Amino acid sequence: MTQHLGTALVTGASSGIGAVYAERLARRGYDLVLVARNRDRLATLAARITNDTRRSVEILDADLNDRNALAAVEAKLKEDASITLLVNNAGVGTHTPLLDSDVDAMTRMIDLNVTALTRLTYAAVPGFVGRGNGAVINIASIVGIAPEILNGVYGGTKAFVLAFSQSLHRELADKGVRIQAVLPGATATDFWETGGLPLENLDKAIVMSAGDLVDAALVGFDRGELVTIPSLHDGAKWDAYEAARQAMAPELSTDTPAARYAA
Ligand SMILES: NC(=O)c1ccc[n+]([C@@H]2O[C@H](COP(=O)([O-])OP(=O)(O)OC[C@H]3O[C@@H](n4cnc5c(N)ncnc54)[C@H](OP(=O)(O)O)[C@@H]3O)[C@@H](O)[C@H]2O)c1
Repeated sequence: MTQHLGTALVTGASSGIGAVYAERLARRGYDLVLVARNRDRLATLAARITNDTRRSVEILDADLNDRNALAAVEAKLKEDASITLLVNNAGVGTHTPLLDSDVDAMTRMIDLNVTALTRLTYAAVPGFVGRGNGAVINIASIVGIAPEILNGVYGGTKAFVLAFSQSLHRELADKGVRIQAVLPGATATDFWETGGLPLENLDKAIVMSAGDLVDAALVGFDRGELVTIPSLHDGAKWDAYEAARQAMAPELSTDTPAARYAA
């Protein structure tokens, strides 16, 4: 058996990217807590992983849009000191433009992609800091830096995930807590069907398998990357973008308006 790395709690583990994380993390030596709404799918996956890896797999069926169910997952993260890794993966998206979108559906998207992710992070991190050990992997999206591509609220939620991860990294890096934001491009999962644009509508050249996506993201994790973009071939482009942002940061707040805004 491989070494024991503690327990990983993976949200949205019943399908797609989250299910692959669950399987890969168990093979690496993590016990698992799998969270999603579909208990049957979680149970089937848990049985397969236990059979293949002999790891302990607990399932927690929870609708993270439901405050009480979310609170139960938060309680698990606060109380179970064996948890060393939180994978904030559960999320929904869509391609519908603002004028065609139902604002209540948009609000539910924010509740899941932003509020639940934030609350779960708040539940996990104090224990990680106290124990001087832990990691959070946040599944963002390339639309976090390219919000014009899909629905604007979806892009906004993923920009939040990226900014939150960058800020967490600054606060927690010297406290033994690792943060990684993963920015997948189009990935072959149920996400597209659920969001109203079945996968067949996409050019195959821009779609990665969930297995390749997670394997690449875990290489980025092992290398200590804060931001991992598996489908971006020219990594120097991200480095230049990030360097430009960092160079601008000290100049973003001054006591006088820039000369170009002189009346
Ligand atoms: N696929 C892509 O192209 C792509 C690209 C960039 C980023 N992402 C991000 O990747 C993450 C995973 O998505 P995926 O592509 O793997 O899609 P997916 O196969 O549809 O998986 C979404 C997961 O989230 C769970 N989930 C949805 N609503 C939930 C709720 N209210 N409470 C608890 N769990 C809920 C689903 O399980 P239940 O239905 O059982 O609850 C499922 O396990 C998402 O954050 C998504 O934004 C995906």
